[in-house]
Amino acid sequence: MVAGEAAVAERVVEELRAACATPAARLNEVAAAMEEEMRAGLREEGGSKIKMIISYVDNLPTGNEEGFFYALDLGGTNFRVLRVQLAGKDKRVAKRESKEVSIPPHLMSGNAAELFSFIASALAKFVTDEGHNNVFDDKQRELGFTFSFPVRQSSIASGTLIKWTKAFSIDDAVGEDVVAELQTAMGKQGVDMRVAALINDTVGTLAAGRYNDEDVVIGVILGTGSNAAYVEEASAIPKLEGELPKSGNMVINTEWGNFDSSCLPVTEYDQALDEESLNPGEQIFEKLISGLYLGDIVRRVLLKIALQTPLFGNVSQTKLKTRFILRTPDISAMRHDETPDLSVVAEKLAENLKIRDTSLETRKMVVEICDIVTRRSARLAAAGIVGILRKIGRAVPGDERRSVVAVDGGLFEHYAAFRECLEGTLVELLGEEAAKSVAVKLTKDGSGLGAALIAAAHSQ
Ligand code: BGC
Repeated sequence: MVAGEAAVAERVVEELRAACATPAARLNEVAAAMEEEMRAGLREEGGSKIKMIISYVDNLPTGNEEGFFYALDLGGTNFRVLRVQLAGKDKRVAKRESKEVSIPPHLMSGNAAELFSFIASALAKFVTDEGHNNVFDDKQRELGFTFSFPVRQSSIASGTLIKWTKAFSIDDAVGEDVVAELQTAMGKQGVDMRVAALINDTVGTLAAGRYNDEDVVIGVILGTGSNAAYVEEASAIPKLEGELPKSGNMVINTEWGNFDSSCLPVTEYDQALDEESLNPGEQIFEKLISGLYLGDIVRRVLLKIALQTPLFGNVSQTKLKTRFILRTPDISAMRHDETPDLSVVAEKLAENLKIRDTSLETRKMVVEICDIVTRRSARLAAAGIVGILRKIGRAVPGDERRSVVAVDGGLFEHYAAFRECLEGTLVELLGEEAAKSVAVKLTKDGSGLGAALIAAAHSQ
């Protein structure tokens, strides 16, 4: 790097570092604001940007569930069909079969009928492929539907879509009952199944986590999108109408992705990303945290440097202006590059961005940018978890209970530096002593299994 260029680039990185800073004091503000918004959202419908959706799940799995159940899991770039055989306390999940199908991008912005027909036909094929199963000779098959978008539920098996998030945008589905749409599409494909439960992926993760560990109280998704669900006392939900559930509990899907607060460290890059997104002004917390966005934030920083210095060559010969070309797995690979000459970084820059011939110093700077963006994300996610723990009086002075947070999602599962930073930040915010009672557990594929478990609990 020539001295002047280096200084210009270093200034951009320096400004990014400052704008993304998340010292403990700020994270405590975030946790407190999250807690405050949660209370407001529980008070009344529309009381907060965080919707605090009543899931109608008032009992979590016990381990005694039995039978064959199906699940459909829709929420990211792939969707999955599952069949599980639950065999009670000792045998647990006796059998689990699943099929993953990637959703053609045009269906994410087409119309509802097309999307649901695609899903139902994959389900039909899955059922046909299993051949004859005499368990179902005199019994209708039952299905848990994990639909990972904000849905206003009216019962355990119905709910209308409030809005799309992530990469989905299908106008005619908004305001519609997604179970009715699925049921219609299944009917057209000749699939005879009853949707026994409609759940969010965070609720599924919480349920699957609880199935294996009775101390699980929170389910979090850190993947393409981000969100959390937790077990609330029914009496602490003023907006809950009618009789209180017998269990005294209700699972709340927070939809924390839509959290927004002046204490969030939002940069010029985040603002631009938001403005150009499918849902401007929405899901601000999610846009700082989740896997769909991290790569694009890094790309925007690199573009700014490229426009001010020749470090990445001629911008027009690169792909730096192509949105979402840099993905979070690339960021993870670059951040974890331990080769002496940062050859993984070189490879990723070349492969994805068509940037070649960078100096080692420039590549080090790229790693640093990935690190800044990742740490901000992991630390904010930790602050969100602390906000929920505080709301339910967990891991606070005087609380002796063990609290387990079940987490699923590729960002958490595949990005070690992210995971370590999140865990370290929890200790930093809760304090060494209190943090000992909190465990964060990867709950792989919890959303699908959780749907089957909840379907079992609501089986007819
Ligand atoms: C959705 C949530 C979902 C989360 C993780 C968000 O964009 O609004 O409903 O739980 O993504 O999939």
